[in-house]
Amino acid sequence: MPSAGGAATPPGDIVVRLEHVVLSFGGGPVLDDVSLQVRRGETKVLLGESGAGKSVLMKLVLGLLRPDRGRVWVFDQEVSAMKEQALYDLRRKIGMTFQESALFDSLSVRDNVAYRLEEDGVLTPEAMDERVRTCLSFVNLDAVMDKMPAELSGGMRHRVSIARALATSPEIMLYDSPTGGLDPETATTIMDLIIKLRDCNHVTALLATHRLQDGYLLATHAWDDATQTARWAAEGARHTSFLLLRQGRAIFDGSAAELRRDADPYVREFLS
Ligand SMILES: Nc1ncnc2c1ncn2[C@@H]1O[C@H](COP(=O)(O)OP(=O)(O)OP(=O)(O)O)[C@@H](O)[C@H]1O
Ligand SMILES: [Mg+2]
Repeated sequence: MPSAGGAATPPGDIVVRLEHVVLSFGGGPVLDDVSLQVRRGETKVLLGESGAGKSVLMKLVLGLLRPDRGRVWVFDQEVSAMKEQALYDLRRKIGMTFQESALFDSLSVRDNVAYRLEEDGVLTPEAMDERVRTCLSFVNLDAVMDKMPAELSGGMRHRVSIARALATSPEIMLYDSPTGGLDPETATTIMDLIIKLRDCNHVTALLATHRLQDGYLLATHAWDDATQTARWAAEGARHTSFLLLRQGRAIFDGSAAELRRDADPYVREFLS
């Protein structure tokens, strides 16, 4: 839909949108004509082998990288054309958990979670403590507030990084390989949290993974408040879609059911 300046603007229920994005780092394109849309409250699962371009795509959404061609929109703002100050403001609405957690090792769990709140300087110390406590209790880690990251297990570090990303109550979450390197049980705990954020907080999200089972879990489960667990429910499918990247090209975009039916040989191989 063209606006006055001739630029396309996304409709209101599309929160994240890439339009024909191309990005190279000198060599061949790392993302090659990628378009995608994420609706409000939806989780888009980015699938693809190592090096397919999943993390790069997320960094484009945050405005940490800019495309050579094409456009990136978040809400009604064109991230790919924004100045640093405007990006800074926009990033307050986006929580990102990086691959490898990326906690600050020299800061306590509390100070890691409070980091962006302290940067903002808006909350009183009491209100900040309350917020940190709320975020840590969301990930069931209230007890480790005063510990250092080195004292935590890998799964706990991931959960702290989710708590840190939640501190500013973001409307969008970017989860980069949130279950990478975790045992199956801990991975399930993390995926349950992601389902809870989707279904209780209606967070719009991108989730990068090469684990198909994480995507299917999202598509087949919904948060059940009564039991405080993620349970099998068809409605998960309504809020989850998939994009499969192959060497920077989006070769599939659709629902879990469509993914299962897709006849493309690479898609079949990826699913097997
Ligand atoms: N800053 C950079 N400079 C040069 N090349 C880069 C840079 N960042 C990423 N790349 C390259 O872009 C390609 C895609 O990288 P990306 O990190 O997005 O992969 P990925 O899909 O996240 O993989 P993984 O599953 O291993 O995390 C890779 O070939 C990588 O080497
Ligand atoms: Mg990656």
